[in-house]
Amino acid sequence: MSIWKTKPLSILLNEASEDEKGLKRTLSARSLVALGVGAIIGAGLFSLTGIAAADNAGPAVTLSFILAAVGCAFAGLCYAEFASMIPVAGSAYTYSYATMGEFVAWIIGWDLVLEYALGAATVAVSWSQYVDKFLGNYGLHIPQAILHGPWDEKPGFINLPAILIIFALSLLLIRGTKESALINNILVILKVTVVIVFIGLGWGFIDGANHTPFIPVNEGEALLSSGKMSFLNFFSSDYFGHYGWSGILRGAGVVFFAFIGFDAVSTAAQEAKDPQKGMPIGILGSLIICTVLYVLFAFVLTGLENYLNFKGDASPVTTAFAKTGYTFLNSALTIAIIAGYTSVMLVMLMGQSRVFYSMSIDGLLPKFFSTLHSKNRTPYKTNLLFMVFVSVFAGFVPVSDLGHMVSIGTLFAFALVCIGVVVMRKTNPDAERGFRVPFVPVFPIVGVVICLILMAGLPVESWERLAIWMIIGVALYFAYGKKNSKLNNPQK
Ligand code: ALA
Repeated sequence: MSIWKTKPLSILLNEASEDEKGLKRTLSARSLVALGVGAIIGAGLFSLTGIAAADNAGPAVTLSFILAAVGCAFAGLCYAEFASMIPVAGSAYTYSYATMGEFVAWIIGWDLVLEYALGAATVAVSWSQYVDKFLGNYGLHIPQAILHGPWDEKPGFINLPAILIIFALSLLLIRGTKESALINNILVILKVTVVIVFIGLGWGFIDGANHTPFIPVNEGEALLSSGKMSFLNFFSSDYFGHYGWSGILRGAGVVFFAFIGFDAVSTAAQEAKDPQKGMPIGILGSLIICTVLYVLFAFVLTGLENYLNFKGDASPVTTAFAKTGYTFLNSALTIAIIAGYTSVMLVMLMGQSRVFYSMSIDGLLPKFFSTLHSKNRTPYKTNLLFMVFVSVFAGFVPVSDLGHMVSIGTLFAFALVCIGVVVMRKTNPDAERGFRVPFVPVFPIVGVVICLILMAGLPVESWERLAIWMIIGVALYFAYGKKNSKLNNPQK
């Protein structure tokens, strides 16, 4: 019995082909790209672009997006290789089980709760603010007591709209993936339309003065380059991350949140019609589409309005759009943004249930998590449990704390997936791969390094919370997972 025992590839592939008993294969490559875009474009773009411009990068937030996209691209390539090779539900969890053994797999599965469950909670909180904004167009407002949690900057009692949307989407997921994918496609079209309309109509109103200087001066960097300040002093000072090149770096850490979600495509591998082709197309296709849209969007946003005016503004789209003369479209844009958030939450909630489904099939979690609904064949008990879990966070925890936890957890998972590709090439060199990462091990190593750099930019508290979450996870593994895992206890 070893905690490092790996799950053989042959077993995984067998599981993938047992279609009859498992999840239905209904998703085409196009649906997978839509699933990715649906999970990616959301609060990160519509809320954080302005905040990262105001606090960190200025108009150069466009460069922050490019930097974050580069990091995601390396991780995305690694995800694509794995997903085309091991097309089973479970994503990074499954890949690490096959490469780095049961213990690492458990750590990843546990860590993914931060990404998917807390990711859904983060977006739900931001969603509720946009709903309030929308109602504001008609003179209506949601009372503060039921719009904010007790620890928010504007304290309330509970964020009720955030809880209600999580309930509604969880129930929708229980009805089945096919129906959810259809609704997702509609939401994605709406959301991409907003971004394109914003870019297209806004482009003609860009004021060059707002883009000058493109990279606002960071006085600390000037002191550093003239030798008047050491790097360590600079790194620990308030100068770091506040404009200049370091601002672009920290800005990349902030807008990284906007890219989270492309990996959720891989959690649906077991529901893909032709995973060998569909997975790489879904993952890389959605990442490329979003990167192009993000860079253009950030360029237009910071061109319409001076970046300093986005300070603390959770809805920079409305602020910037006021400069275009098309303000009558404001309500329509807000509705589409609200819809866009909905699809992010949908994919996150689905990803979460699929990871726990796989862990339960492997015996690392109780059977409860893999019980499928007799008619819909969805893991409805997991959906219901996470409906409650996510709601508690969405209802009470401030959005920034949630967002940092999501970012650090996701970066950690990305780094492990990159390492996994290198390990898998050594342990299973001849296995069939629908897609191969070029230049292994260089590309995966660059991916790990970029993830670590972005993690280093996040606040110390997020590191502490990550550690606490992991300690709880390790305790649970030894108390339950190790004793019940099918791989380590074949007699069970
Ligand atoms: N990328 C997703 C968003 O920005 C999580 O909302």
